[in-house]
Amino acid sequence: MDGMTSRLPTQPAALAARYGAAVPPAGPWNAMIAALLDHRSVRGYRPDPLPPGTLETLVAAAQSAATSSNLQTWSVVTVEDPAARAVMAEVAGGQKHIQECPLFMVFLADVSRNERLGEAEGKPLEGLPYLETFLVAAIDAALAAQNAVVAAESLGLSTVYIGALRNDPLKVAEVLGLPPGVMGVFGLCVGYPKPRAEGEVKPRLPQGVVLHRGRYDAGPEPTARAAYDAEMSAFSQRNEMAADSWTQRVIARIGTVRALRGRDRLAAALQAMGFPLR
Ligand SMILES: Cc1cc2nc3c(=O)[nH]c(=O)nc-3n(C[C@H](O)[C@H](O)[C@H](O)COP(=O)(O)O)c2cc1C
Repeated sequence: MDGMTSRLPTQPAALAARYGAAVPPAGPWNAMIAALLDHRSVRGYRPDPLPPGTLETLVAAAQSAATSSNLQTWSVVTVEDPAARAVMAEVAGGQKHIQECPLFMVFLADVSRNERLGEAEGKPLEGLPYLETFLVAAIDAALAAQNAVVAAESLGLSTVYIGALRNDPLKVAEVLGLPPGVMGVFGLCVGYPKPRAEGEVKPRLPQGVVLHRGRYDAGPEPTARAAYDAEMSAFSQRNEMAADSWTQRVIARIGTVRALRGRDRLAAALQAMGFPLR
């Protein structure tokens, strides 16, 4: 973090970038929080390699995340082979940054290690086939990955998650040699951004619609959504040469089964990969 503290936004600037007009009251603040609020996904990478030991540092950060009951039901595979990268990019609908970035990691929900433990101990684990265990593994993988993202950003690196690997999890499993009980939940590109690839911080919904006090209250949503649509239209005009509102993006992303791009068959794919999801 030391190296990047000087580049971090002040509290008012960070809150304004994240919320536009709907800035919440300022509270406690430090460099760690400034770095978190400065996050943005990056989709264009220079080929420059990462300093030696960076991968191991990111994995140490990832392994330091909380993990349900210390089961540690996640793993990660790096993908170096260009042909394998090309397959990952194709599965993800042609996302070129997967082939550009110097480090591409696939985070895995992995119950196979504990299954092997049970077999070695002559104690088959009855709890393994349940949806709960898959969910634990997927949550573990996500928490670990986010620690890696925060660590990468603190080193001046950029990242973008690649959930589109779930378009075809069986293909990902085949290319990465995943055993039954292991699923690639998402990929992660890591590297140095190309010039101008960083873009602005993307605004988020006003806090009033995600933060509920005591009881859930959807009351503020219509007003907040209208305000956020205006923020996001302006953001996408400045950064993406489009003028889509958030409402339009949500409808485009989950408004039809076709828009799921094969992920509507995820339950069947998981069952084929050794997750009965009982
Ligand atoms: C689990 C997950 C999967 C994602 N998958 C993709 C993806 O396949 N391609 C992509 O360009 N961005 C992907 N993203 C990035 C999101 O689009 C991005 O986080 C969101 O638009 C907010 O922008 P920001 O990260 O710049 O704040 C993914 C993010 C998450 C958390």
